[in-house]
Amino acid sequence: MDWKALAAYTDKPIARSGEIIEREERVLPKAVAIKYFPMAIERGRGSLVWDADGNRYIDFLTSAAVYNVGHGHPAVVEAVREQVGKLQNYTIVYFYNDRPVRLAERLIETTPGTFAKKAAFAFSGSDGVDGAIRAARSFTGRRQVLCFKNAYHGMTTISLSVTAIVGREIRERVCPDRNVVFLEYPDPYRNSWGIDGYGDPEALTEAAMKEVEEALARHRGDVAALLIEPAQGDGGMIFPPRPFMRRLREVTEREGVVFIDEEVQTGMGRSGRWWAIEHDDVVPDLIVSAKALGGGLPISAIVGRADILDDLPSPLLAYTHTGHAVSCAAAEATLSVIRDEKLTEKAEEKGRRLADWFRRRAERFPFIGDIRQRGLLMGVEIVSDREKKSPDKAMALKISWAAWERGLLLITFGRDGNVLRLAPPLNISEELFLEALDRLEGALDDASSGRVPDGILTHLQGW
Ligand SMILES: Cc1ncc(COP(=O)(O)O)c(C=O)c1O
Repeated sequence: MDWKALAAYTDKPIARSGEIIEREERVLPKAVAIKYFPMAIERGRGSLVWDADGNRYIDFLTSAAVYNVGHGHPAVVEAVREQVGKLQNYTIVYFYNDRPVRLAERLIETTPGTFAKKAAFAFSGSDGVDGAIRAARSFTGRRQVLCFKNAYHGMTTISLSVTAIVGREIRERVCPDRNVVFLEYPDPYRNSWGIDGYGDPEALTEAAMKEVEEALARHRGDVAALLIEPAQGDGGMIFPPRPFMRRLREVTEREGVVFIDEEVQTGMGRSGRWWAIEHDDVVPDLIVSAKALGGGLPISAIVGRADILDDLPSPLLAYTHTGHAVSCAAAEATLSVIRDEKLTEKAEEKGRRLADWFRRRAERFPFIGDIRQRGLLMGVEIVSDREKKSPDKAMALKISWAAWERGLLLITFGRDGNVLRLAPPLNISEELFLEALDRLEGALDDASSGRVPDGILTHLQGW
């Protein structure tokens, strides 16, 4: 990132961040990142972060939907401190420890389904997806995985093989896997069938189910799993039509296919329920969680049917640091904070207000194309023409740059990189929420009135 060129477009001091940017580019490969702004984050507290130059931001990105309980929540910090003081970790591959057992008990209680469940742990959403697919293939003795176009499931080898947002050529070059079938995710706003999925959710569901049935018929007897995000996150926060998840549950049951509910981004209260799939009244076979689970510490979990998880022979879910005691302590504290502070209800209430706020501005800002929200899972699609629904990535980047300038951290995502990603902590205070809306209004004004120069576009990478 040419931070010196970007310095010409901002009044903020950014030299200290600039120095870190230059050093990072010397020693880290570019593949670790999709960079947005010239900032190195140094400190976080609650819904606020500060960069190396002391600039303050309200955090509407939360480290990519990690800080559902905010930065440095005292209960999480205390749990970590206590555990570090006692034991950082001792591998459970060889002995036993109470921490992962307690966390598994809590997650089993929190997830849908009354059947016998177990939980397995690792470190990131990517390895959680890998483990779930390994378990499904082992349990069914089949190979194929049905997954969805525009999905992001991770960067480890198996999870990359089911990540459609990455170009097919490079995906197949680095991890060839022929046992994956990509289907169209039914996007009510824009889909290849030309169906208005908001007006006619049944027709959209039928069109998508036809593809599912065709794939099942093509690979009859060889489909191990169906892997789906209940709302496609990095795909642009897309919510499928209501009947779709239930129909998928019916066909997976009929065909003996393992239903993997991928809640790395959507889970842990963000949707207004513990798990986004609860909005659809569907009980999956396995749930994958990560990101917000550790309250800022790295941990992932696969929670679900004991018979499926137990089918994998030892040591196929063993990692030296599996069920790391400190991460488990942080995760248990995070679960308690979400329950005790009623954060699902807060997500519901703040999310509804945020969506209403955008709706009220749609007339003034014609580039607001679609507002998608459930709890504080939220995306706002930016378009250059509402009728034609033409994606406007440049405008979306300008809005996020203007927000950054004004001290509000938000970025873009989606297949066309034109969706504003809004993911504040679920416990953001009323005062900061209102301050954020004020800044957002300024950012929309800046971008729409041409005050954000085109020059920044050559520097921001973005999705
Ligand atoms: C839905 C979803 N699944 C999986 C992943 C991968 O998680 P991680 O980056 O923790 O490996 C992500 C990350 O953005 C994600 O959004």
